[in-house]
Amino acid sequence: MPVSIVVGLQWGDEGKGKMVDHLAENAVAVARFSGGANAGHTVEVDGKRFALHLLPSGLVRKDVIGMIGSACVMDPVTILEEIRSLEGNGISIEGRLKISGKVNLTHPAYRCLEMQSESDLASGKIGTTGRGIGPTYVRKYKRNAIRLEDVFDMENFTKLVDFHTLDAVNTLNLSSTQVETLHADVKNFIEATKEVSRFSADVSLSISEVLSKDALVIAEGAQGSLLDPDHGSYPFVTCGQCVSGAACTSLGFGPAPVTEVIGILKAYTTRVGAGPFPTELDNQIGQRIRKAGNEFGTTTGRPRRCGWLDGVLAAYSARINGCTSITLTLLDVLSGFDELKICTGYELDGKLIDYFPESVTLLDKCKPVYEELSGWLSLSMQKYPSLSNWNLNSGSASFSAGSILHPVNTVLESGLM
Ligand code: IMO
Ligand code: MG
Repeated sequence: MPVSIVVGLQWGDEGKGKMVDHLAENAVAVARFSGGANAGHTVEVDGKRFALHLLPSGLVRKDVIGMIGSACVMDPVTILEEIRSLEGNGISIEGRLKISGKVNLTHPAYRCLEMQSESDLASGKIGTTGRGIGPTYVRKYKRNAIRLEDVFDMENFTKLVDFHTLDAVNTLNLSSTQVETLHADVKNFIEATKEVSRFSADVSLSISEVLSKDALVIAEGAQGSLLDPDHGSYPFVTCGQCVSGAACTSLGFGPAPVTEVIGILKAYTTRVGAGPFPTELDNQIGQRIRKAGNEFGTTTGRPRRCGWLDGVLAAYSARINGCTSITLTLLDVLSGFDELKICTGYELDGKLIDYFPESVTLLDKCKPVYEELSGWLSLSMQKYPSLSNWNLNSGSASFSAGSILHPVNTVLESGLM
């Protein structure tokens, strides 16, 4: 009864979608277990590119079942647009999509509330995607959220929706035009929820049925481990759990069937939004990587902050996720550099450390210590043997010149880039 979990090991945008799509070839189901419309997973089918925010990436394959777990948050208007975009391109998802009735819905007012909290200087800017993710999770834990299954009791659903509309209008200083827009958005929200409700399902039960047939389930993560609210660079994180353990809670199965945890690691590092980033290159090299890798947000279009590969961070992420293998992506972006750098340790208060500090205050003070490697002109794995020798010991990065450490089983998938 195998489950393969795919997670991002950095601050998101590692290429998870491409890897999930690749693995989905042998899977019966692909189940998204975290986040909401803040994710941006780009997949290509028959030369057409799809930027998916909520739908599981594997759904572009016509024989795969797509599921969305209960720990995800969902904007019904966005998911409906995605469904229509796939269907408009001849990819029917009817009968293949199962959304947990327990997912919490992003009411349109939450985006307005998020905008206000982001502009409130006292709370400090996180640089969110503006998709209302934080306010949706806040309401989940306040226990007054709107779940997809609520739509099946229309009277109660309308009451809940109205409560959140009114709450926002009372909290925010909205102009009459903004109030009008909000009411129009709420109408769309209600209509979209009704339409999407036909996909509501018991995801835990559906997964157990797939597993009982010994068929493969891919659990697809969103965001990256350093954006996890527990293990990431808090408070500069998202609100849904991004690490592998969250797959079980969100999708409703125990850890026993998990046979693989595949960490996706980009050959360099990017980050969108605020927060510490030890290997950031706020210079021409960073700009060159951004241009070569087209490092602009799929969700917001924001330029991503770029920097060298951070091995200390990678080792930490491999540990908290229990990675059994790592896929290194986007190596081709680094083609043509005379010299490449990989961070193998940090200098913290004059001392060299080789572990990732738990506290973001300490992380902010860390200065990267680099190993330098000669670059390549065009990508060919044979020409770059040092990368096939990458070792991530249980949590601490110990690199030696020319030979980067290696986890249990390093996967180098140049073909996926
Ligand atoms: P994928 O799945 C990159 C970042 C935002 C911000 C922080 C909090 O494409 O890897 P939020 O809107 O979630 O409350 O924002 O998290 N963030 C991402 N960065 N890729 C993502 O998803 C992200 N999802 C959220 O930029 O710093
Ligand atoms: Mg993204």
